[in-house]
Amino acid sequence: MDALQAARFSVVVPTLNESGNVAELVARLAQVLGGVPWEVIFVDDDSQDGTREVLRELARRDGRVRMIHRIGRRGLSSAVVEGVLASAAPFVAVMDADLQHDESLLPRMFHALNSGEAELVVASRYMEGGGVGNWSDSRRRLSRLASRATQLLLPGAALSDPMSGFFALRRETFDEAARRLSGIGFKILLDIASSLRRNVALRELPYRFRTRHSGQSKLSGQVLWEGLLLLLDKRMGGILPLRFLAFSLVGGLGVAVHAAVFAAARIFLGAAFVHAQTAAVGVALSFNFLVNNRITFGESRLRGWALLRGWLSFSLACSIGAIANIALATFLHDKAGLSSLLAVPAGIAVGAVWNYSISSFYTWKVAR
Ligand code: GDD
Ligand code: MN
Repeated sequence: MDALQAARFSVVVPTLNESGNVAELVARLAQVLGGVPWEVIFVDDDSQDGTREVLRELARRDGRVRMIHRIGRRGLSSAVVEGVLASAAPFVAVMDADLQHDESLLPRMFHALNSGEAELVVASRYMEGGGVGNWSDSRRRLSRLASRATQLLLPGAALSDPMSGFFALRRETFDEAARRLSGIGFKILLDIASSLRRNVALRELPYRFRTRHSGQSKLSGQVLWEGLLLLLDKRMGGILPLRFLAFSLVGGLGVAVHAAVFAAARIFLGAAFVHAQTAAVGVALSFNFLVNNRITFGESRLRGWALLRGWLSFSLACSIGAIANIALATFLHDKAGLSSLLAVPAGIAVGAVWNYSISSFYTWKVAR
């Protein structure tokens, strides 16, 4: 059997419940990429709407259609990273499945890369000739604001549309950034551009962002929050892991919850000290667990029975963390003669690092 012609251009498409869009997208890719040896790699995060069945059917008929099925994982960025890593082509494009991105740009993207003119080509809504179609004013303003904030925080990347989810690049350029990527949230282009740490040969192409063909947007408060964390992470040069920062912020909120429950129990219920303190610990712990489950570890969110098991392991981890905290602070204070001003924060820091490491590994099973 002769070898099939290998793809030179892989189009990576993350999908989450896009059954009404993928067939149309493949048809359009085949249409516009006539002269280019291409393939499309869908990375599906366990869609529940039949997306994979449609994809498998397409893949059986056309060898240029490939699919990665991820179970128990979530996230546009990490899906894109996995899709790119699964491709062997010298050039890779990233686009959404919902047909909001104008596929007719793809041949120009490919030729800009193939000719060596550029190593990163970005489809931009915010340059002459581009636009955002019929977005609501608030969504338009929000997106603009996010782009401005990004440009302020990351002056290195001269991108007119840093939030663009539609771009193409050389595989070597991606590989250069791959080990430094945060892989969190929606902002994969920003993640790549700020991980490169040098000026890249950039080409921007204007396009008009269309309205969604079918299905619903997955952009949510969670996604915006993750975008903010990503910016902070990049700004701080990745000194502290992103999640640890969020975990610590949530922990700080937990202290406030503890104080409020304690005061309420004492003042309004006239509870004994030990009861008020016990209730406060229980509520603060559960609060921290639930908020971390939604925000810090939103991509590995636990549901159903796993939620109960997670709560137990989180409580256990934090109890041991509290003992380590108390033991270290007491030692530093009583035995090593440090002032409380140093001993107390040292205890908290060790407790926090412990709680974070153990719960991310055992409770949410995050690999890194
Ligand atoms: N595998 C996977 N996992 N895919 C996902 C996930 C996920 O957790 N979340 C979203 N997707 C897929 C969707 O199925 C779609 O193909 C694509 O990622 C974009 O998701 P949308 O829900 O359509 O996002 P949007 O239109 O609101 O946001 C677009 O515009 C933003 C800027 O305004 C995207 O292009 C963003 O990347 C971009 O930042
Ligand atoms: Mn969309």
